[in-house]
Amino acid sequence: MRLRIMHISDTHISDFGQFNEKAFNNFLETVDKLDKKPDIIIHSGDVVDNGVLSEYELAKDYLKSLNFKMLVCPGNHDDRNGGGALFAEFFGPSDFEYETGKFKIFIMNSPQPDRDEGRLGRRRQFYLQQRLSEIGDSYFKIIVFHHHLIPVPYSGREVNVLEDAGDVLDLVLRNNVNLVLMGHRHVPWSIKINNTILVNAGTISCLRTRGRFGNSFNIIEIDEENIYIEEIKVNGEKGKQIGYKTKSILKF
Ligand SMILES: [Fe+2]
Ligand SMILES: [Fe+2]
Repeated sequence: MRLRIMHISDTHISDFGQFNEKAFNNFLETVDKLDKKPDIIIHSGDVVDNGVLSEYELAKDYLKSLNFKMLVCPGNHDDRNGGGALFAEFFGPSDFEYETGKFKIFIMNSPQPDRDEGRLGRRRQFYLQQRLSEIGDSYFKIIVFHHHLIPVPYSGREVNVLEDAGDVLDLVLRNNVNLVLMGHRHVPWSIKINNTILVNAGTISCLRTRGRFGNSFNIIEIDEENIYIEEIKVNGEKGKQIGYKTKSILKF
């Protein structure tokens, strides 16, 4: 049992904002040339830059060039200027579960309208706790939300956080969630805590990159024993590669 995820984030698609169209087009060319195609794409938010209609229309158009199953999670920029309703209209629900084989993916809405800080809140925490208890270790559990759960290095002053990060981290670790996918800081990074691997994707096409990180995405390969995370720059250059042993909880 294997799953190959293309983890993309922070496209910031816009006709007047921080969108780097050249970077996005480079990304599309790189995806075309990938020898290992993804089973699924997960977008961890900031699809658009200002949450306005023209951006959502543009984003729908740009993203439809990616001919793979795609799960989209909202970011703080998607919820600006009343963008939450447009997100629902263009991309569907902000909180949902998706199942493929023995993989259970929870997409969770962390932004709050017109604020940069995120919050899952008691209701989503309760829901997650209930569902995670129900499925136990019978699935490989993946949770996706936009805001970073723990501080990300090289991303400057710690701001615009997940306000209830402590409680969410406790919930994630207690329930042996296997993988958490996030974006928001525009820095690719990963860390393993207990049995959980936490992964942040960089930005696909925001002009606001950090240092020399540039624009990038992750390919995450999960098999019976390991999770491999490969960072790929949008121009096709290989970035960091890292592998983690994952506790083999499933008889795949
Ligand atoms: Fe962003
Ligand atoms: Fe963000």
